[in-house]
Amino acid sequence: MELYEGLLTRRSIRKYNPDKSLSKEEILELIRAASYAPSAHNKQPWHFLVVQDKEALRTMRLIQPWTTFAKDAAAVVLVCVDKEETFHREKEGWDYAEIDGALAAQNLLLACHAKGLGACFCGAAPMPLVVANLQKKFNIPENIIPIAIVVIGYPEEEPKVPDDRLKPDKVHWEKF
Ligand SMILES: Cc1cc2nc3c(=O)[nH]c(=O)nc-3n(C[C@H](O)[C@H](O)[C@H](O)COP(=O)(O)O)c2cc1C
Repeated sequence: MELYEGLLTRRSIRKYNPDKSLSKEEILELIRAASYAPSAHNKQPWHFLVVQDKEALRTMRLIQPWTTFAKDAAAVVLVCVDKEETFHREKEGWDYAEIDGALAAQNLLLACHAKGLGACFCGAAPMPLVVANLQKKFNIPENIIPIAIVVIGYPEEEPKVPDDRLKPDKVHWEKF
């Protein structure tokens, strides 16, 4: 699939064939693409936690209520960022964790689309309770922050093509 076409045709997919699975190699291929995302100062501060256990997929909604469709997924990948590794300025109180994580997650979504899989970005950080509960359930250390719950499966829906999302009145040239 041509990249520009892929950018325009990717949609969030929330209905999957519950009987189809993904191999470890297939998942690693997807994560390879995620790992080529840009990151501040090229820190590549990511960790990816793969969930394929059926019970864990089914109960993901107890941690993040808008992930009910994960029950039929072939995998969920928690895209996480190491707070200590991501480019940050402690004294100034900021870091790039969420941005680095979101960019890797977007690459993961696009890799899924390129391979004919369906995927949906579901939020984790900055929701403190979701972050804490994911860390607890999956033994994630405190400094590793789950940014996205990326739900992946074999698509069983084809969402309609949205209207053109380019809003020329929201594009500002030289000055706002
Ligand atoms: C930060 C963020 C959090 C999201 N959280 C959820 C979620 O919890 N559950 C869900 O079904 N979709 C979630 N989405 C997906 C959006 O609903 C979706 O991207 C949006 O409706 C546009 O549709 P599209 O992805 O098909 O273009 C999230 C997207 C982003 C960027």
